Amino acid sequence: MESKGFIDISATLGGLDKRCYGQFIEHLGKCIYGGIWVGEDSRIPNFRGFRLDVLRAIKKMQPRIMRWPGGNFSSGYHWLDGVGPREKRVKRLDMAWGAEEPNTFGTDEFLELCRLVDAEPFIVVNAGNGTPEEAAKWVEYCNSRANTYYASLRRRYGHHDPYCVKIWGIGNELYGRWQVGFCLNGSECARRTLEFANEMRKVDPTIRLVAVGCEDPEWNLEMIKNAGEYFDYLSVHIYIKGERPYRELAATSLDIERRLRNIYGLIQSARRRYDIEREIGIAFDEWNVWHPEAKAPLHEQVTTVGDAILTGGILNALHRLCVAAPIGGFAQTVNVLPLIIALEDGGILLTPQYLVFKLYSTNSGDIVLKTTVDTDHYISSELREPVPFIDLSATITKDGKTVYLHVVNRHETEDSEMTISFRRFKPKRGSQLYVAGEKIQDKNTPENPRRVMIQKSKVKVAEGKIMFDLPAHSINIIKVSGQSSIRLN
Ligand code: AHR
Repeated sequence: MESKGFIDISATLGGLDKRCYGQFIEHLGKCIYGGIWVGEDSRIPNFRGFRLDVLRAIKKMQPRIMRWPGGNFSSGYHWLDGVGPREKRVKRLDMAWGAEEPNTFGTDEFLELCRLVDAEPFIVVNAGNGTPEEAAKWVEYCNSRANTYYASLRRRYGHHDPYCVKIWGIGNELYGRWQVGFCLNGSECARRTLEFANEMRKVDPTIRLVAVGCEDPEWNLEMIKNAGEYFDYLSVHIYIKGERPYRELAATSLDIERRLRNIYGLIQSARRRYDIEREIGIAFDEWNVWHPEAKAPLHEQVTTVGDAILTGGILNALHRLCVAAPIGGFAQTVNVLPLIIALEDGGILLTPQYLVFKLYSTNSGDIVLKTTVDTDHYISSELREPVPFIDLSATITKDGKTVYLHVVNRHETEDSEMTISFRRFKPKRGSQLYVAGEKIQDKNTPENPRRVMIQKSKVKVAEGKIMFDLPAHSINIIKVSGQSSIRLN
């Protein structure tokens, strides 16, 4: 298969907020306990209780933002249970998942984790069976320099400087009957949201808030109409559940891109209709495939190259949606629907999806460029539309010297020779990194932990164009050094 791409450096879609590569961790299964946290006395090598192998793997993929403590868990979580001397913390019944919560990992441990892996913290307050007052005290504990009780408590527990947590979520999936303290409709949730926002902002007016949104337009309309001046992002969660034929799975990123664009369109028209001045974006703060094997209580699954193809497609979509959906949250980072599988006896497995995250978050520019692709298509029977085999997104650094191409070849058997021509950019050299495995079913297992890896290839540059090969079922990053003939802002 041959394919061609064209990029004009002056056709920019917006700044790339690298928080789109964000991660989500929850007190569920072995994500926190056994995954991130093993405790200082564990025989598994750890740094102050954090599992070292996991810590290193997270850091290597530069997560930028991490959402915690849930998920459903957050709707029954009372943060005061998780601060102070660990030996004094009490065990509670986790109302969301019916598990025993030891509370050894709490606010200070989470914020230490964020510091260690260099990620911005994103804390979701309990808007299920918690109160606005409890949430405001949490903001005080994390962010205040005052001499008041909760700021002093933080200092007493050994954390002198405020953590300055900027992003706070008000509740999780409050539209669902499975959620502790769910709301009956969008207007009830809006009322709850503005009460929380009011009290939390009284403690720190600089915080940015994420409210509960969903794919129900009526819910979102009510939220914006009644509470639109109180939050900055509307949260959206999408899981691809069940098993579907590979071509349908690979096509799903088109559907997700369209659904997110539609939600953003609705946000914009609701803001105009109800005269809401505050800018509102989407926090796509839970997304992943969810295979039938990932059942309660552990929610474990081992994903394949096919799943990684979809992951690359969704990250390309998030690039194109850089203005609409600047924050992402892959669900979840460790052991639960995982990117990283932390084995019980020590050692980790990195899934093909992890490799894609690592490729993207360590190889992307500051500004997203519009791309045009000429390629073959197949017809998706579910979407009833043509799906291009090649999906291309492009980003450029602010200095105009490096273009990154993020290219997915969805074809299960055919490689593609691709040529890219540029306008207002002169390419000088290029290099290619990719993930493909040998088959779309390939995965990394304890028996064969390095079956799927990041590989390298060569890029040709001639007459202002670049040429490279895209292996079948591959996710590629092409780094092109050169010079743009225009200034980028
Ligand atoms: O990620 C697992 C669960 O899926 C989260 O707790 C919840 O928000 C979602 O339904």
